[in-house]
Amino acid sequence: MNRKPFSWMCPAIGVGTSSILAGQRGVMAVAPIKAGEVIMVMGGPVVDIPTHNQIGSFGEEYGIDISEHFSFCPCNEEELERMPQFFINHSCEPNAGFLDQLQIVALRAIAAGEEITYDYAFVLFSNPGNEHRFQVECRCGTAHCRKQITCDDWQIPELHQKFGRWFQPFLRRRFYDLHPGWAEAAVLEVPCAVESSGPLAKGREVARRAYLAQHPQFAAE
Ligand SMILES: C[S@@+](CC[C@H](N)C(=O)[O-])C[C@H]1O[C@@H](n2cnc3c(N)ncnc32)[C@H](O)[C@@H]1O
Ligand SMILES: [Zn+2]
Repeated sequence: MNRKPFSWMCPAIGVGTSSILAGQRGVMAVAPIKAGEVIMVMGGPVVDIPTHNQIGSFGEEYGIDISEHFSFCPCNEEELERMPQFFINHSCEPNAGFLDQLQIVALRAIAAGEEITYDYAFVLFSNPGNEHRFQVECRCGTAHCRKQITCDDWQIPELHQKFGRWFQPFLRRRFYDLHPGWAEAAVLEVPCAVESSGPLAKGREVARRAYLAQHPQFAAE
């Protein structure tokens, strides 16, 4: 990446060679990351979905929907290089998810050398007007691999149960409608490597501990 990225990247990550997909790029942890920590804040050109659908092969391969109406979508190689979010590969057992539209957070402690992954179900949506339906044979190699990644996966109820909090908010709203009685989860402030000291950092550490108390399965050993 020669030019400054549009997105903020935690100092503990970098774009490198994927450990999941031979010969492809991926986003790798270069230092340990705590559960709940912000890994990336996505930035870059935002386009509306009709424009996205006209962009052609770039739009088909690269695009992260942030609502039913808008997506991050690079128009050319140079924009792609500056949007590291597009180098995050899919895993059916992800270690990252969406805190909100823009922030990608660690779902558990991540060791140096591990690849950062999220489940593409957290974001893929079958946009009206797009003839291209995303479907890829999954090569994540995890024990619970579902073998295919498609733009309909956001509707899988087991994923809502397991990872509902970590979907893009526009999809979360859609499946909260599918499960009457579910309430929107409380929003917690999470730690961020930018603020390593001071009162805000202290507040974030308190929030992180509260998060781990609610999700002990993600606590570091
Ligand atoms: C946003 S790109 C990810 C970056 C890509 N590895 C690269 O080097 O440009 C998405 C594409 O990566 C591939 N990909 C990501 N995760 C995958 C997985 N678990 N199994 C198979 N292909 C995957 C698919 O071709 C998908 O269309
Ligand atoms: Zn898989």
